[in-house]
Amino acid sequence: MDDQLKNTLLRAVHAGADVLRHYFEGTFEVHSKDSLNNLVTEVDQKAENVIIEVIKSDFPEHFILSEEVGELSTSSNYKWVIDPIDGTVNFAHSIPICCISIGLEKDGLLMMGAVFNPFMNELFFAEKGKGATLNNKPLSVSKNANLESACLVTGFPYRWVDVGTDPISVFERFIRLGLPVRRLGSAALDLCWVAAGRFDGFWEYNLNPWDIAAGYLIVEEAGGRITNFNGDPYSIYDKQTLATNGNIHDQMLLVIKNG
Ligand code: IPD
Ligand code: CA
Ligand code: CA
Repeated sequence: MDDQLKNTLLRAVHAGADVLRHYFEGTFEVHSKDSLNNLVTEVDQKAENVIIEVIKSDFPEHFILSEEVGELSTSSNYKWVIDPIDGTVNFAHSIPICCISIGLEKDGLLMMGAVFNPFMNELFFAEKGKGATLNNKPLSVSKNANLESACLVTGFPYRWVDVGTDPISVFERFIRLGLPVRRLGSAALDLCWVAAGRFDGFWEYNLNPWDIAAGYLIVEEAGGRITNFNGDPYSIYDKQTLATNGNIHDQMLLVIKNG
């Protein structure tokens, strides 16, 4: 069964990727969602359609949660959590830092996840208890144990109503420590790049389950740690995300909490 699920997962991310490649740098419709720069393009919808088609044709009874269509709810204990394009603003501006992200939960726990950036040809994959890979090669987080020499990444919400000034103050505290902090514009890739040891840590407020599901498992299976800002065990439905190589986790928590 797990092999079948993996096969479906990989076919689904590749089907989505074909759509992204087809439209990249071309013309397509772009609309705003709840705020001017929270975009949805017709490519998000087309990629989502083909991804769901692949999953539904193999597992018609499975539950689906996907960013643009929402919940296609069933009583199945399998739930596919889909972001057809993570990094839509990048995609709409022809910036090749975007991906398809699909996580699969069984009984509420992540069991498999894939994140594919077709423009860098990087496929990140993880299966619970079996490690994480990048293009089939084992992945592991960095070994850096000092926040002082860490390279970090973050992101900012489109809407500020529910978050106050916290994301800016936390960002300022890390910057004032003299640390390099990057902003890629794709939370799923931020997580995968922590898993790959490119970044030592990532934090963000107000992400959604489809941004995080696959990347969460990929970070954990690459040996990293992921919690909310209290250091509690993580759920993809949390509104605070801290993912690190594990070694600098507590040091980052101190900076985030001690405003
Ligand atoms: C966004 C990206 C971005 C993050 C936003 C997300 P989208 O997802 O992951 O990095 O900062 O909060 O909404 O809209 O491109 O799917
Ligand atoms: Ca997203
Ligand atoms: Ca998206």
